[in-house]
Amino acid sequence: MEKFNIAIDGPAGAGKSTIARLVAGALGFVYVDTGAMYRAVTWRILEEGLREDQTEEMISLTRQSNIRLAPGSNGQAVYVDGQDVTGMIRSAEVTGNVSRVSAISEIRDVLTRKQKEMAAGKGIVMDGRDIGSQVLPDAEVKVFLTASVRIRAERRLKEISDSQPEVTLDQLMTDIARRDRMDEQREASPLVRAPDAVLIDTSGLTIDEVVHRILELAGSRVGGG
Ligand code: DC
Repeated sequence: MEKFNIAIDGPAGAGKSTIARLVAGALGFVYVDTGAMYRAVTWRILEEGLREDQTEEMISLTRQSNIRLAPGSNGQAVYVDGQDVTGMIRSAEVTGNVSRVSAISEIRDVLTRKQKEMAAGKGIVMDGRDIGSQVLPDAEVKVFLTASVRIRAERRLKEISDSQPEVTLDQLMTDIARRDRMDEQREASPLVRAPDAVLIDTSGLTIDEVVHRILELAGSRVGGG
């Protein structure tokens, strides 16, 4: 089958990574989680102990760091300068700092360039916030996934109820709404739907239904599968 690229954007918790991974698996394509790259850079910055005002240092650290994504047994593994940081980039500390790091336009430039290189050979399903609009404006298939804040918070609560039983639905709703605002209002590549992206509201749909819809879309857009 002919190879092409699929761009999947949307806010935190819309189901992007689960869905993108399944779509990639169904097509035999490679899944690229760009949020993991912003998280990896944020982890590195925190590890270095940089203060919030040390923007120049953050930018040069990002330029120097070698971030690598590799398909692993439990999804995608993430390495920074050879160190496996897959678990650490999901910590509350990284999650709490990644929005401000990803608002720095020079850091976005470094990661955007890398993401374009990764997709140059096609056969990529890439998810993020600015993939259809900035990173892969020529992607053959573009999807924008959304879901209500409540649904996204409920999904997240299910995921973390074992590891963090103290977290409440209200807290998650507040946190998700705050992250949406930061992602939508930042100057550098805010979260926007590319005009040619197909909007799918996942609130009332199962994962399989969303995957199926994207595969259908890919079949009709590309005419091969
Ligand atoms: O999808 P996620 O929650 O792992 O993303 C982490 C953060 O990175 C989130 O605050 C938005 C930001 N991000 C971004 O600015 N651009 C992307 N292409 C992907 C993620």
